[in-house]
Amino acid sequence: AKLAFEVLTATDSTNTRLLESDPARDPQALLAEYQTAGRGRRGREWRSPFAANLYLSLAWSFPSWPATLSALPLAVGVICAQALQAQGAADIGLKWPNDLYARGRKLGGILIEHRGEAGGNCRVVIGIGINVSMSLQQAEGIAQPWIPLAELTAAPPSRNGLAAALLQRLAEGIARFEAQGFGAFAAEWAALDLANGRPVRVLQGEREYEGIGRGVDAQGALIVEALGQYQTLHSGEISLRLA
Ligand code: ATP
Ligand code: BTN
Repeated sequence: AKLAFEVLTATDSTNTRLLESDPARDPQALLAEYQTAGRGRRGREWRSPFAANLYLSLAWSFPSWPATLSALPLAVGVICAQALQAQGAADIGLKWPNDLYARGRKLGGILIEHRGEAGGNCRVVIGIGINVSMSLQQAEGIAQPWIPLAELTAAPPSRNGLAAALLQRLAEGIARFEAQGFGAFAAEWAALDLANGRPVRVLQGEREYEGIGRGVDAQGALIVEALGQYQTLHSGEISLRLA
């Protein structure tokens, strides 16, 4: 299908806009120069200053419900990481389930949302935020370490070039996910997974414990070895910290 594509100067959130848009136009992509209500996981703020970063959403309707849909954020992470590497970015890694990292700092994030229930139509909105040239001033108040793509490439990155490359790879990659599921991305995920074989901290409500990352299962759930046991952790329930 042909990709509908739009660029706005400002919007609340590109994800919100596409969640409210007409599914008959799918696949559709939306970019904004800035967002007034950019969102991360669990309603957290995603800082989205003007012309500094990439704010991109893609609405996609699957003909049927993919068996490994819970692993879609991981597959999208792999696709984004490879697009960034192809732009010459060094040191890219992925932090389960939905973060792009470099040099121990957050480079970007992925937010996948859907309306409607299992069984019916499967329409997802895939939101991607990548820091490109955000300044210290623009980032003031962000509570965790972050990094812009400009620090990882020799030449200054072009947001247009990056957006075009990402959309191209997303269209191919999501079609691959549709046909083959997460299995087609598992090896690539393992190579980029920053927790693989390394110490991690798991935050689960009030509980907090340490373990070793042992990859993910076929559904994209995280496996952590702690106290001699393997735990399978789902992304709704926990936050992961790299030790
Ligand atoms: P989790 O591991 O649970 O996903 P997280 O701390 O990465 O935790 P998210 O909801 O994924 O949380 O991302 C939102 C958080 O990212 C915000 O609370 C803020 O600390 C940080 N943040 C906001 N905007 C940016 C940005 N442009 N770049 C990097 N980090 C940001
Ligand atoms: C995260 O790390 O929690 C995910 C951040 C996702 C940010 C992107 S920017 C484009 C799209 N619109 C939003 O409001 N959020 C996503």
